[in-house]
Amino acid sequence: MGVEFDKDLVKQSSDRIEKLGLSKSAQIILGDIMEQDYSSADVITVYLLPMSNDKVRPILERQLKKGTRIVAHDFEFSGWTAEKVQHIEDDGEGRSHTLYLYRR
Ligand SMILES: C[S@@+](CC[C@H](N)C(=O)[O-])C[C@H]1O[C@@H](n2cnc3c(N)ncnc32)[C@H](O)[C@@H]1O
Repeated sequence: MGVEFDKDLVKQSSDRIEKLGLSKSAQIILGDIMEQDYSSADVITVYLLPMSNDKVRPILERQLKKGTRIVAHDFEFSGWTAEKVQHIEDDGEGRSHTLYLYRR
């Protein structure tokens, strides 16, 4: 389940999910990440700017069950210590990425 409040990105992601044949297992909704229930999640991935990470962090701290993994893309969560950091120099399209793995 993905959450995004930009309509165009929701459409773009939904089209991609369909094209990849993943409609049965993946879905994007138009919504606010600050208003979701994450209590049943096993894995959360975020690609948010630091200010949004700071805003969603207390919600995740309140709701996530113990052991849930959180993967942050490019921007780490302040106040949390990553269990693993992985840098990808080139994703095949010339972009580099850093992934931060946290566990509650
Ligand atoms: C760093 S950008 C990532 C852009 C895009 N997802 C990508 O993969 O290139 C952060 C994204 O989070 C979305 N976002 C920020 N705050 C949000 C919120 N409260 N609820 C839903 N989406 C939010 C923005 O619309 C933006 O698309």
